[in-house]
Order: sequence, then structure tokens, then C-alpha cells
Amino acid sequence: MHQTETFSQPTRDVGRGMLPKIKTFYLECGIGSYHIAVYNDAARPRETLAMDMIDPFGRTISYLRVSVTDRCDFRCTYCMAEDMTFLPKKDLLSLEELDRLCTVFIEKGVKKLRLTGGEPLVRKNIMHLVHQLSRHLESGALEELTLTTNGSQLSRFAAELADCGVKRINVSLDTLNAEKFHQITRWGNLAKVMEGIDAAQKAGLKIKLNAVALRDFNDAEIPELMRWAHGRGMDLTLIETMPMGEIEADRTDQYLPLSLLRAALERQFTLADIPYKTGGPARYVHVAETGGRLGFITPMTHNFCESCNRVRLTCTGTLYMCLGQEDAADLRAPLRTSEGNELLSVAIDEAIGRKPKGHDFIIDRRTSRPSVSRHMSVTGG
Ligand code: GTP
Ligand code: 5AD
Ligand code: SF4
Repeated sequence: MHQTETFSQPTRDVGRGMLPKIKTFYLECGIGSYHIAVYNDAARPRETLAMDMIDPFGRTISYLRVSVTDRCDFRCTYCMAEDMTFLPKKDLLSLEELDRLCTVFIEKGVKKLRLTGGEPLVRKNIMHLVHQLSRHLESGALEELTLTTNGSQLSRFAAELADCGVKRINVSLDTLNAEKFHQITRWGNLAKVMEGIDAAQKAGLKIKLNAVALRDFNDAEIPELMRWAHGRGMDLTLIETMPMGEIEADRTDQYLPLSLLRAALERQFTLADIPYKTGGPARYVHVAETGGRLGFITPMTHNFCESCNRVRLTCTGTLYMCLGQEDAADLRAPLRTSEGNELLSVAIDEAIGRKPKGHDFIIDRRTSRPSVSRHMSVTGG
């Protein structure tokens, strides 16, 4: 075993909030090599809730994605099996419990909160939660409250969302062709989604469209989808399909690397990289011909994990520290064990302390099993 003491001056460091570090060791032994740090816990402020969440790789967690339901009124072929089994309703956290959890995260430094699903707008009384959470926008503690939706229920809720301080939403739309839309979503109706988009724009909500790039399905249509989105003042992001959960379709057939799609688009359009950032994983270009923004979300061809700033909470109170890993922390037990939030705060710190470096997604013909067994709808992307 080889051990080196690297420094002993107290320094402020990341990884345990902002506790002073007393010593670090480099340790090599039969099972690997480790950097070990000793922190001065006596210096831990008692108001622990107010500390920033910083993971072992120095990444500050400021973005919480909350899947308020795993249910959905669509059955997109890249996302779900048609006969999906959903979580039993009795296991769901109540809206009050979700609000309490989100509030603790906001106290701990979350600035951007996104409701996802399944389809978030099919959760019963979801607007009650949105109204409750909007108080954090009013107080200034939260910078952005938003959601990712399939658009099916938007015409009912758009105006109320805007009233709650939601400024910007993401709508999933993979094609403008009604028949193809029905084919990919199995249960979806394009006209209803279009009504939703109209209502959202009328209510003043900014929209980013999300399109999963699917080989031989919508690749040829992307220029048209982009012109349409930009013509209506919407950003568009293209997404590489990720191997999450068992589905009927073969992901190798569906998968289209965005490097190829970008090269194809560059034959028709002038794309210029821009530093525009939303806090999400997309890298954006400005498209000279349309004047709009196009984003690329490339978990497969360009891993963006080094700048990951987010964690995901499910509707049963499970916290996933990475979309592409199985490790999770149960927050329901500490939530329900005591009325105060101290236990919860400690459980969150412990979970952030083991946030992994990144995902290990693979799609190829030799790997028939998904990298992660749970479906995207459990953690909401
Ligand atoms: P913006 O705030 O508009 O940037 O949103 P976003 O792109 O972060 O969120 P959205 O819900 O629209 O997600 C778009 C796609 O990005 C989905 O397919 C998500 O699964 C994917 N995505 C979001 N965060 C991550 C991440 O941390 N890792 C991976 N691999 N994919 C992610
Ligand atoms: N890979 C990539 N994106 C996916 N989405 C759903 N399932 C997958 C997958 N397996 C997208 C949806 C939605 C966003 C939340 O995630 O289309 O836009
Ligand atoms: Fe529903 Fe979104 Fe999954 Fe499609 S991708 S089935 S809309 S959760």
C-alpha cells in the first residue's frame, strides 16, 4: 500500500458543501487508488439546509427535474412499451409531499425546477402543485419553474401556467405529419398538440420543441420541422435516443447519431455555434437561413456529463443522481419519518455525495439489453 499526504493547509473545498478540508491523502492499495480527504466537520454550519449541493466532482447541483407521474397518455415507441405497467397509485407522493421535497431542494440551492413525467399534465390536480411552487418564483429563491410536456393537455392549462410565472416550456414533437405522429406516439393526436402549442403561444409562453432524431423516420423531415419551429419563434432541439427501458422496437434501428444529422443539415443550412445556454444539456447553433436556434442533445456521441448540474426526483420520492445509472436514494422514508426537514436534508447531502461521474449508455448490435432498465418516463429525461 502506498500513501502520500498531499497537503495539510486548511482549504475550502467542494464535495462536502463548503467545509474546510484539513488533509488529503493519496492511497494506493490492491483494489485501486483513492484520494481521501479529511474535513473539519466541527465547522459545519448548523443551518445545513442553506448549504449549496456540490458533488464529488465539484459540480454544483442547481437544477431539479421532478417526474410528477410515470403515466402518460401517449406511448412513444422509443420511450415505452404499449402495455406498460405503471407504479401503483398508492406509492405516489402526495402533491403536498412533492411540494415539501421541492422546497427543501430550493433551500439547498436549486434555482431551476422542471416538472416532467410521463406526462406531467395528466397528474390529477397538477396545477395545485404549480401554484404552490410559484411562491418560490415570487420570493426570488427560484429562477425558473418550467415543464416538459407532450402538449396533449396544453390547451387546457397554458393560460394558468403563464399566470403561475412559467415563462418557457418544452414540448415534445417528432414530426409534423399527422399519420407519422400517430405511428410514433401510438395514442397521440397531432391536432390536439397543435392546439396546445397555439394556446401556449397565445398565453405568452416561450416554447422549445424537442424532437428525438430517429433514423428513417423523421431524419428527412428535420429541415421542415426546423423551418416551421423557427417560423413560429420556437427553438428546436434534436435528441439522440437513449437506451432506457425495454421497448418493442430495436434501438439500433432507431438510433441516429446527431453528428451525421448535423453534417446533412450543413449541406443546406449555415450553422454557427453559439454560447447560448439554458442550464440544460443542449449545445446550440444559430441557423442563418431561418434566423432561429437549433440545439443538439448528444448523450451518445458527445457526453456532456462533465457539466451536469441536475438530479431527478420521481413521483415516489426516489432521487436519481444520474439519468444513465441505476443508483438511487430513497427520500420518501426521511420525508415521512419526521415533520422537520433535517433528516431529509442529510439524506439529500448523502445522495449528492455519491453522484456518479456520468452515464455509460451504449447502443450497438451486440448489446440487446438497455443500459438502464427503467424507462425514461420514470425519471422524466
Ligand atoms: P432546457 O431547460 O430547455 O435546456 O431543457 P432540457 O433540455 O434540460 O430538458 P428537456 O426536458 O427538454 O429534455 C430534453 C432531452 O434532454 C430529453 O431527452 C432528456 O432526457 C435529455 N436530458 C436532460 N437532461 C439530461 C441529462 O442529464 N443526461 C442525459 N443523458 N440526457 C438529459
Ligand atoms: N431517448 C431520448 N429521448 C427520449 N425521450 C423520451 N424517451 C427518450 C429516449 N429513450 C424524450 C421525449 C421528451 C423528453 C423528455 O425525452 O421525447 O422530449
Ligand atoms: Fe409519454 Fe413523453 Fe414517453 Fe412519449 S416520450 S410516451 S409523451 S413520456
